[in-house]
Amino acid sequence: QVRGTLSESSLVEVKGRALPLCWKGKRPFRSVNDVKNQFKALSLKITHASSTSNLDIPPQNYLIVEEDGKTCLAIRDASSDPVMKELNFILIGAVTMQDLFVIYNNESKQLGWVRAQCDKAQELESVIDSRL
Ligand SMILES: *[C@@H]1O[C@H](CO)[C@@H](O)[C@H](O)[C@H]1NC(C)=O
Repeated sequence: QVRGTLSESSLVEVKGRALPLCWKGKRPFRSVNDVKNQFKALSLKITHASSTSNLDIPPQNYLIVEEDGKTCLAIRDASSDPVMKELNFILIGAVTMQDLFVIYNNESKQLGWVRAQCDKAQELESVIDSRL
């Protein structure tokens, strides 16, 4: 899916050191900000019981930049990891969780999330109140 969004881009697919799918630009990237505009948001469909929600993941929440200036897909295939395959679960990693505020409503057993600037935590109170 990520590859499909890159058809008009000048990025070249390469292998990374730790991650299998990376891209090289004409010049090395210094941060995700240098490259995020060439990628599109992904949408993760989460289904529980009869309800479905989408978790939209912008490029800065699924890409990392390696030391040598390549950018890599920071999403790994759980079926290629023996432990995760055995336990049959998906781990949404730290890069994807950045600036995502997750709310669990204990009474109705509902999970919610909202994009937030987590370095500005004071403003979150009104966000939470509006969602509960
Ligand atoms: C969450 O709900 C359970 C019952 O569904 C209750 O026993 C527990 O005390 C609640 N926890 C909090 C932190 O409110």
